[in-house]
Amino acid sequence: MKVLVIGSGGREHALVWKIAQSPLVEKVYCAPGNPGIGRIAESVPLKVDDLPGLLGFALREGIGLTVVGPELPLSLGIVDLFEEHGLKVFGARKNAAFIEASKAFAKDLMKKYGVPTAAYQVFSEIGPAISFLDTLGLPVVIKADGLAAGKGVIIAQTRDEAVATVTDMLSGNAFGAAGSRVVIEEFLRGEEASFLAFTDGRNIVPLASAQDHKAVFDNDTGPNTGGMGAYSPAPVVTPVIHDKVMEEVMRRTVDGMAAEGRPYRGVLYAGLMIDGDKIRTLEFNARFGDPECQPLLMRLKSDIVPVLLATAEGDISSVQLEWHDKAAVCVVMAACGYPGDYSKGDEITGLDTTAGMEELFVFHAGTAEKEGRFVTNGGRVLGVTALGDTVKEAIDRAYAGVAAISWKGVHYRTDIGKKALGR
Ligand code: AMP
Ligand code: GLY
Repeated sequence: MKVLVIGSGGREHALVWKIAQSPLVEKVYCAPGNPGIGRIAESVPLKVDDLPGLLGFALREGIGLTVVGPELPLSLGIVDLFEEHGLKVFGARKNAAFIEASKAFAKDLMKKYGVPTAAYQVFSEIGPAISFLDTLGLPVVIKADGLAAGKGVIIAQTRDEAVATVTDMLSGNAFGAAGSRVVIEEFLRGEEASFLAFTDGRNIVPLASAQDHKAVFDNDTGPNTGGMGAYSPAPVVTPVIHDKVMEEVMRRTVDGMAAEGRPYRGVLYAGLMIDGDKIRTLEFNARFGDPECQPLLMRLKSDIVPVLLATAEGDISSVQLEWHDKAAVCVVMAACGYPGDYSKGDEITGLDTTAGMEELFVFHAGTAEKEGRFVTNGGRVLGVTALGDTVKEAIDRAYAGVAAISWKGVHYRTDIGKKALGR
């Protein structure tokens, strides 16, 4: 079978890496891909939002399975379009991907179906929004309703900052149309975890637990990013918490989406806040997390292709996932300036050294190739991912890889996985 993966980040490199290991697969394509992906798959120069171009390519090449990485094409309806043309495609349909594309929709769904989440209200006018702000304590959380590339959530520490943020978003200055409605919600304390599951709309098969590191600097300081590193398993997700999340978050959400006439098929990602035995849902994503996907897929023992196919075909009742009894840690190496404006084109050295390291794989995210050399070409540049018998061993291996790689102005967190060690 020929498989097409859509996207160009570390998540898609991990998907291509895992899919290419399947005996069912004869060839992998990736649109648009990146130079790391290009070592295992054929890159197709089509953008993720070029739906007609991607459809034409899949039909022409006889693609047996398309796997959609990022949220943008999902929210544009790529799955609906491919299915209308008889193609098998892994991902949420447009009306189901709305659970990520609109935070207001996701919050209202959670409220309606009893999914635990922070107290909130949705606003499109400044006056009432500020009145509600004043009923909540500080800090307070303000979220742009629409897609904002992971940057639409502001945790305001002062009333002035909260008022300015709400005013900026609702007047269209920040995030354009995505900020024309805002969710204002109570600030939650605790430890975050990423809980992902495959679902066909009825059956739910959870992946191993994972934890992301959203803040740019050590000890969770500085502005939020797309994710500076991740590990799996996440000990904060104890067996008791796991069962609670399956029942109160996943089951209620999947059933709720079906009841709303938006059956959810694909991978459903719940961002959780865990405080003792209390769980609250921060958000849903309609896709694999990035970087969570990298450590998760390194730990996945099962062939992923039958799982993706069964999900695309709408019946995962016989799917079982097997995991390596190891920990995996991914450290993201970022470009100078990220998550603000960052530089591009800096030469990356050391990748030939890491190629020889055991139980380590360097997933490319924002790289380009210039005269046969790898250079930086995005905010998150590489995801250095390693396995270990213990979290400690996986951390040490990943950071040994990081130490071998360099470019001008590179930065990364030095504490990825530390919370797992603390438990
Ligand atoms: P979201 O995109 O909704 O997951 O928000 C991005 C990040 O903002 C989360 O991963 C949390 O770190 C933080 N966050 C979101 N909502 C809250 C909340 N209610 N309380 C505390 N932190 C939050
Ligand atoms: N790592 C968080 C996300 O993929 O949204």
